[in-house]
Amino acid sequence: MKGRILSGMRPTGSLHIGHLSVIQNWVALQNDYECYYSIVDLHALTTAYEDRLNYPSLRREIALDWLSVGIDPQKSAVFIQSQVKEHAELHLLFSMFTPLSWLERVPTYKDQIQQLSQQGKDLGTYGFLGYPLLQAADILVYKANVVPVGEDQLPHIELSREVARRFNHLFGTVFPEPQGLVGKVPLLPGVDGRKMSKSYNNAISLAASPEEVKTRVQQMITDPARLRKDDPGHPEVCIVDKFHQIYTPEVAEVEENCRAGKVGCVACKRHLAENLEKLLRPFRERRDYWGESGRVEKVLAEGAERARVTAAETMKEVRSVMGL
Ligand code: TRP
Repeated sequence: MKGRILSGMRPTGSLHIGHLSVIQNWVALQNDYECYYSIVDLHALTTAYEDRLNYPSLRREIALDWLSVGIDPQKSAVFIQSQVKEHAELHLLFSMFTPLSWLERVPTYKDQIQQLSQQGKDLGTYGFLGYPLLQAADILVYKANVVPVGEDQLPHIELSREVARRFNHLFGTVFPEPQGLVGKVPLLPGVDGRKMSKSYNNAISLAASPEEVKTRVQQMITDPARLRKDDPGHPEVCIVDKFHQIYTPEVAEVEENCRAGKVGCVACKRHLAENLEKLLRPFRERRDYWGESGRVEKVLAEGAERARVTAAETMKEVRSVMGL
């Protein structure tokens, strides 16, 4: 094993194929690292504290999404953040020596406050300011060396490193400085050409049924200049082509046939739908397996158990060097 990994996602809705590369990256890392993958419900609570009734099903869905793509609970600890109290304890202890200015200058902070206040959310809370500090606690409580994240999260990893350094300087060396690992994420639009997002209703869900896959592909916007099947097409303006580029090995041929007016949009879409179906079918099968009575619940209970053991070891050290 090359070290420890921690990563997390907020349970804010079921995942779509735009999230796939991130989870596949997690899956690949399972073989080389001791991995902790957390459903960070406390982070979700910092911006959506009134959604509480939805959390049980949101947590279960995202766990199923991960398992369906190949997160293996034999290898990785898959758990719910709020079930491992050490995260909250370390967050509190970190708050004692983290300068307010460090949190106020995190670039996501003011952005998010502005964006979400337009949607009528009040984020002038103590919890929201502490969001990245809670994330630092998530990472450091496992002494994680590597944190696979999206590029937008790098400022939060940087803050975690600063908190680790300050702690080590004040109390003695306990924490390694974690490294962010940004995976390659292919840019995938939604079926309407906007960003793929559940809230735009333009996403292909990881749990999509064969019928849903077909419908979504039918909704994809093609070259508007191509009225008849034998008109020459322009793949660069076609959403179907954006997907072929990722999911169709013989994409060059597809584009050539389109440009030459040899294959019409209907057949081209059918081809894509078949490839997407090949991609999603194994996920659906694994989802069915894990979705059976009590299986996810067991994974999450055992994951939390394992996470707690590691987290408790760290907290013992932390309490001791802090004089508690
Ligand atoms: N802030 C992360 C996001 O929005 C989620 C997260 C919380 C996280 N704690 C984490 C990611 C720890 C990596 C490690 O995507």
